[in-house]
Amino acid sequence: MPMSSYKKGIILAGGTGSRLYPETRTVSKQLLPVFDKPMIHYPLTTLILAGIHEILIISTPNHLGSFEHLLGDGHDLGISLQYAAQVTPDGLPEAYVIGRRFIGSDNVVMVLGDNIFYGPHFEQQLATATSRRSGGTIFVKTIEDANRYGVLELDPEGRPLSLEEKPAKPKSNLAVTGIYFFDNRVLDIAADLTPSARGETEIVDVIRHYLDLGELCVEQLDSECAWLDAGTHESLTLAARSIEEAQRQDGIKIGCPEQAALTMGFIAEKHREAGGSGAT
Ligand code: TTP
Repeated sequence: MPMSSYKKGIILAGGTGSRLYPETRTVSKQLLPVFDKPMIHYPLTTLILAGIHEILIISTPNHLGSFEHLLGDGHDLGISLQYAAQVTPDGLPEAYVIGRRFIGSDNVVMVLGDNIFYGPHFEQQLATATSRRSGGTIFVKTIEDANRYGVLELDPEGRPLSLEEKPAKPKSNLAVTGIYFFDNRVLDIAADLTPSARGETEIVDVIRHYLDLGELCVEQLDSECAWLDAGTHESLTLAARSIEEAQRQDGIKIGCPEQAALTMGFIAEKHREAGGSGAT
């Protein structure tokens, strides 16, 4: 496996979740169950599979305590979990402003708390993204209604050409998913953003910055890789059904942080560091 240039990760799990009202008036969206586990277990598993040991969970001041209650300090998984509040949902790039001290001088991967990924080649693609020392990497997927997301256009050689947020006339079917790998320059890029017409800073503006620098890499998820965004009642139900089916068919657990920590050797590592036998 190539050397990783990433050790820090952020799960952005705030927002209003208004499309899931009334549930999300009292419960955080990212704590709702997706089949047999809370939604946040899926992005947490993604970060562990990306080899990330230090994770910052950002949520609303109201819900932060519930996440901490659920996940603790992470030592059971051989990772370190920290928590920070986003007082108002002012945009995804705010994660880099809130997380500035946590990120320090490192690269950082951010995953949205309602994005679920699984597939046979996904881990290899995560490893490819974390092996890049500088620039940015986004993950895209061909879907029918890409115009609900950021849409990426590629040139004939497969290099990124343009990026548009929720375009009326999309130039491709490639939707930008909710996982972003950036080098440390993202801290200053995010700090300098101005809010868009909808009053939020936009992640597409950060991505475009790397695109304009010619330093944006793209990982395309193949048709075997599922990307589920569980932000609406329909997609939440679909996600639960897909997970149930995939787990039954393949006899595996999807979104299981403990299993991912074992696979990545994090738990054995923890035991070794603690002077244990290494048996887990
Ligand atoms: P969205 O699904 O775009 O927004 P939302 O969760 O507030 O839902 P709704 O549109 O139904 O009101 O957000 C994507 C993810 O990013 C989700 O996990 C919430 C998170 N988020 C934040 O944590 N802070 C923010 O400022 C924004 C905009 C989103």
